[in-house]
Amino acid sequence: MESEQTLLSSTPVDSYVWGERAWEGPHAGHPTSQDGRKLPLICRPWRLWHRATLCFTGSRKTSWRRYILGAVILVIVVVIYSTSESSRRTFMSFVLCSSLVHGRPPESSFRCSNMANTTVPHLRIPPKAVENKLREDPKVLLFTETQYSKTGKAITNILAANRIKYKMEVLGKSLPGLTNLSRGKYGTVVFENFERYLQIDSWNRELLDKYLRDYNVGLLGFMPSHEETQVGAKLRGFPLYVHTNMALENISLNNENPVLQLTRAGGTITDSLPGTDWTVFTPDDATYVPLEWAYSSFPQYSEERLITAILDKGDFDGISRVLFGSNLDFWLHRLLFLDALSYLSLGRISVSLDRYILVDIDDIFVAKKGIRMNAGDVTALLESQKRLQEMVPGWKFNLGFSGKYYQNGYPEENVGDMALLEHVDDFWWFGHMWGHTQPHTLTQENLEKQMQLNKQFAWNHNIPTDSGYSVTPHHSGVYPVHEPLYDAWKKVWNVRVTSSEEYPHLYPARMRRGFIHRNIMVLPRQTCGLYTHTVFIDKYPGGRAMLDASIHGGELFQTIVFNPISIYMTHLSNYGNDRLALYTFESVIKFVKCWTNLNLRTVPPLQLGEKYFHLFPEERDPIWGYPCADRRHMEIWAKGKTCEQLPKFLVIGPQKTGTTALYTFLAMHPAIMANYPSPETFEEIQFFNGKNYYKGIDWYMKFFPVPANSSSKFLFEKSATYFEGEMVPERVKALLPHVKLVITIIPPSKRAYSWYHHMRAHSDITSLQFSFHEVITATEKTPRQLRNLRNKLLYLLKLTSSKCIQRYDKRKGFFCQVVEEDRTKCLGRGKGRIYPPMNESDAKLLKEYYQPYNIALEKLLTRLDYPVPGWLEDELQ
Ligand code: A3P
Repeated sequence: MESEQTLLSSTPVDSYVWGERAWEGPHAGHPTSQDGRKLPLICRPWRLWHRATLCFTGSRKTSWRRYILGAVILVIVVVIYSTSESSRRTFMSFVLCSSLVHGRPPESSFRCSNMANTTVPHLRIPPKAVENKLREDPKVLLFTETQYSKTGKAITNILAANRIKYKMEVLGKSLPGLTNLSRGKYGTVVFENFERYLQIDSWNRELLDKYLRDYNVGLLGFMPSHEETQVGAKLRGFPLYVHTNMALENISLNNENPVLQLTRAGGTITDSLPGTDWTVFTPDDATYVPLEWAYSSFPQYSEERLITAILDKGDFDGISRVLFGSNLDFWLHRLLFLDALSYLSLGRISVSLDRYILVDIDDIFVAKKGIRMNAGDVTALLESQKRLQEMVPGWKFNLGFSGKYYQNGYPEENVGDMALLEHVDDFWWFGHMWGHTQPHTLTQENLEKQMQLNKQFAWNHNIPTDSGYSVTPHHSGVYPVHEPLYDAWKKVWNVRVTSSEEYPHLYPARMRRGFIHRNIMVLPRQTCGLYTHTVFIDKYPGGRAMLDASIHGGELFQTIVFNPISIYMTHLSNYGNDRLALYTFESVIKFVKCWTNLNLRTVPPLQLGEKYFHLFPEERDPIWGYPCADRRHMEIWAKGKTCEQLPKFLVIGPQKTGTTALYTFLAMHPAIMANYPSPETFEEIQFFNGKNYYKGIDWYMKFFPVPANSSSKFLFEKSATYFEGEMVPERVKALLPHVKLVITIIPPSKRAYSWYHHMRAHSDITSLQFSFHEVITATEKTPRQLRNLRNKLLYLLKLTSSKCIQRYDKRKGFFCQVVEEDRTKCLGRGKGRIYPPMNESDAKLLKEYYQPYNIALEKLLTRLDYPVPGWLEDELQ
């Protein structure tokens, strides 16, 4: 049975060396029965069967063809097996073939040689004299070669991922303004190509250097690659020599360098380095301190340690600098880049060292037969959890369950299910969907029923139900929001926090953010490269090397470094089979501990949510995006929802410019349809400004007809309050990227006068108390309520217009809707009020007051190639 056992234990073995201690791999366990005995292969015929079919098909996807083929082969094999000893060997070689398909992965080469005695240096603090010279949250000033240059993009990606504010400039003849009201705007200056800094003309160079000295700001630069090799070339103006186009190996960090903060000198990296065009530095002054070293691959240099990144402490010319001999392709440079920003800005641009990690096992009972967990896998999970707790205080796997699939595997897998529940107290738990159904396909009633079933399952099995956390299959219903899901979550599970990869979009991952909707916190979730179908190391997309690259400084490692809070989603099948999840997380955590000084922690989801929005309060408010821009969003949007139910144009005001008349007349056109009225705000929805926005887009869309029930192509809405809403432009652009905006403009003095009478008609005390003249001539010394009323007059207006079936009504003095040939219907008494004309002196005063605004408006309209209305020409005469 020797070969059979080889097949069964074909799991990756992690042999990390951690200081002096060799770590046991997370996969050391052998499949065991419930009482802990090792199970021979014969107890697991299904798994052998599954692998046998795989040997011949090379794929795990189940298809009836493959099973028929497998069945035929197995019958032949069994017949041969039962006839002779030599045939038995044939059978065993078949088993081995399977074993080769899922071969034992190579051992990891990662070694950490510098765990002990490393203390994190204190952040540098700005000296008193310069403490307040910079603005409160200084930005990074980044000079790039072009808008699209490679290193420039890599830099902005890191800055965006770490939410560091920056201004990007393509270096031209002049520098951007460096100060505002004598306060410095930038905390660090970065040159994508350090040689550009050396080439700046003397006037601008002096200006920039003076800023750097006066405001105690440092400079960071990357050496570019060159066609021709420079040997011992002196950097213009500095006691520093460079040698370009080097191919290097065995890179390590200088433990003593004060730049190291987040980054820890973890040892020597023997993996090959990206590029053969590295620049190395040879300093000739004590101001320079090596930051990173490597050896050349060429024999003539083999003994020499070459400096690949260097700190200039500023002793030479009063300016601190960090120079990199290569770009950001090398993962370690991405960490050093953050540290250099922090060092050079005296800690003013730095990220915290605290990192929270939560690993969800989203579908703890959901997987096909044959790839689920058995009791041995559960033991391995518990052992791994213990080891992780030593490295990450508070670590617990967070198990999401869909009760419907409990005991749904082969007998040994069902024992695995039971083993999980025997250890219910060792994990955190959260309710998933009962049947793993996508919520956007269900009504609230059905959702509640499903959730209730799952809750009943939890009660029956002593699973805690008070985590306040849940997630859904494929992020369905979380974003784009399916309101019935939020309702049911609140009602059945008292859910307060969830996580998703979809807000605002899956890609790019660095832009994922959180939001709060109806008191449920939605946290961004990261991916770890493990999916339901990635269960064997030798089937990992791109091979074992790909997974290891992600762990050893690559994507997975960087998500931990760049995100203060990381939530990962994994599945049951990642913990059975080759137990890839255990391998992945233990490995990456060790790597993080080796190469960084980050403080790793795990806390339950609710605490995590609170922490997240404490760190990023600006993310609390959602920005609803256009669901039809993203195929994935369309797939998880409720059936029948369509972007055709969103308006094609908006009349956005301002108030008192005839917006109601325009709205009424437009709606009379057969191809145009206005929104349904609101019980609170009448013909206006007032969604994009104010509180209604938080009700979500389902609420907004209810104001428009379902396209199938309407022949009108052009839906529109009018909310005159949009014109003054600060958030409106960003919100409208996100939800309605193709919308057309209609703005009505009338003489501003007329609008002001109408507004005054509108306020009087609404019994506004100030307008009743003061004359129009008093309002428009209010100064800083006049009562505050009068100034407030006056300020409501101050708009810059813009224009568009339209025609409809309307007739001038002499009695009303305005155009009215033609209802029948001889009958018109005018707007109510609140529109087109009768009041005395404005007196001449007030009209003159306002004409003068508005003149600069009217000039600006005329210029804008001309620039946009819009017609200039007659009243504006008159005003400007
Ligand atoms: P007044 O009532 O001061 O005359 P809004 O609907 O944006 O609040 O604007 C109201 C203004 O629309 C009215 O202000 C009136 O001057 C103007 N208006 C334009 N066409 C109108 C119409 N056909 N009937 C009524 N008012 C109209």
